[in-house]
Amino acid sequence: MTYKHKVSYYRGGTTYSGKTRSLKLNTKKYTTKTITVNKQKIKVRCYTNLVYVSKPVNTKYQSMNIYVPEKYFHNKKINGYSKSTAPIFMPNNIGGYMAGTAGTLTAGAMSGGAPAGNKLSGKMQGSKPTGKAPSGSSNLNANGGASSTSATQAALAKGYVVAAPGARGRDTKQSGKYTGKAPAAIVDLKAAVRYLKFNQSRLAGNTNKIISDGTSAGGAMSALLGSTGNNAEYKPYLKAIGAANTSDSIFAAFVFAPITNLNNANTAYEWEFNGVNNISGASMTPGASNSQTKLTNKQKKLSKQLKQDFVSYVNQAGIKANGQTLKLNSDGTGSFATLIKKEIMNSAQTALNKGITIKTSKYPWLTIKNGKVTDVNLTKYFKSVGRSKTPPAFDALNVSQAENIEFGDSTTNAKHFTKFSQQRNTKSGATMADSSIIKLMNPMAYIGRKSQATMAKHFWIRYGETDSNTSVAVPTLLAQKLKNAGVDVNYHVQWNTGHAGDYDMTNMFMWVDSIAK
Ligand code: DHB
Repeated sequence: MTYKHKVSYYRGGTTYSGKTRSLKLNTKKYTTKTITVNKQKIKVRCYTNLVYVSKPVNTKYQSMNIYVPEKYFHNKKINGYSKSTAPIFMPNNIGGYMAGTAGTLTAGAMSGGAPAGNKLSGKMQGSKPTGKAPSGSSNLNANGGASSTSATQAALAKGYVVAAPGARGRDTKQSGKYTGKAPAAIVDLKAAVRYLKFNQSRLAGNTNKIISDGTSAGGAMSALLGSTGNNAEYKPYLKAIGAANTSDSIFAAFVFAPITNLNNANTAYEWEFNGVNNISGASMTPGASNSQTKLTNKQKKLSKQLKQDFVSYVNQAGIKANGQTLKLNSDGTGSFATLIKKEIMNSAQTALNKGITIKTSKYPWLTIKNGKVTDVNLTKYFKSVGRSKTPPAFDALNVSQAENIEFGDSTTNAKHFTKFSQQRNTKSGATMADSSIIKLMNPMAYIGRKSQATMAKHFWIRYGETDSNTSVAVPTLLAQKLKNAGVDVNYHVQWNTGHAGDYDMTNMFMWVDSIAK
């Protein structure tokens, strides 16, 4: 492969023919907006449509908006922060592995205490729609991803600078070629981080305190940003799009409902849902349609095999909790299952401690004695969550899932990314994505390799207790592996919450203040 060919490949099938753009932020080019957060008026300087790479493939997505509280330009402090010390909150707008545009700030009021968060799912609050994904929740953005508007406003009120980048995705297509397939989204977000660091002297905010935020596929990207800082394997891709030649490590990551560890997500899903043969939840994968209500016999067989493969995965992963290496027995029980049980018990206990009423008649899988959660029957709990996907849940045998489409290339829409599904492929001609690209999309491959990646120091990871978009095993293993690597992790399974992000923002931003000040 010649270098020239490689570059065009890395750019997602396009060669660069335009002018190389300057990456210097023009500090004089801005507009102002006044927002009202909890009755408090905040004037904000808006730097918008900033293309963050010098050789863009797609300026619609490779651009970002930066919002700075005006007070910082008048030597004033907010929440103890100054123009040079304010953390930079970086929400991405990625949902469903599709392209996301740069987050925007809507002028106007946000009130009523901390916002409730962005629900991505009709399953929020434990309701169980059956059949197809609900259409048009008001909290969905055009891509089906989390709208970061309210988080952005809340962050500005706390005195953070907000940098909201767009990124290419699996649906980005130009001149008949796909230009946003893996690893484009993470490469773009890294380039956005580099742009901020390159502009440190021109920018308000402290680029050593960048805190990324994302939900679902966007949560996966946030986890990757936090786990792969400065890793050399992304460099050729960054170079090809003209990313600033600087660091792409970040300080902290908010990770909500991460659809991540994709090469092990099929097996994790069946470890959780094997034996649950009804498809009761609605898959939130944008663009997915599933009219099936029960697993077929073939799918039941696949489920059983995948569950066994998860047992093998956990047993060789060497991930520890409380000093013990996590293990699973062939029936799916073992210390890893005990850990999951503890997380669910903790979820319910935290809700109880907040004064939330939990009737065990509604949650027959839960045992509560004198206000203390004493047991969770995992099998019954998993059944109550309900599966929303059929096996293999992410690498479909006919390459029809969102994740298959994420792993396409410039001329191929969809590919496999597990040997299991490739071996059972039902779509003629379907091939497997390059192993190096599969790795670039999986934070688990980098965590704990100190010499290879600069990790974020802090992670806030949340997964909804009723979410069935992936297995709760996925965020739990992510949190555990990060803890094993010595990272500060705040992980919690959020009671009575579906596929959602940016909830519990009061605590989320209190945490930022506790780590950033
Ligand atoms: C998302 C949800 C999914 O169920 C999935 O498989 C991929 C992405 C999302 O909401 O981003």
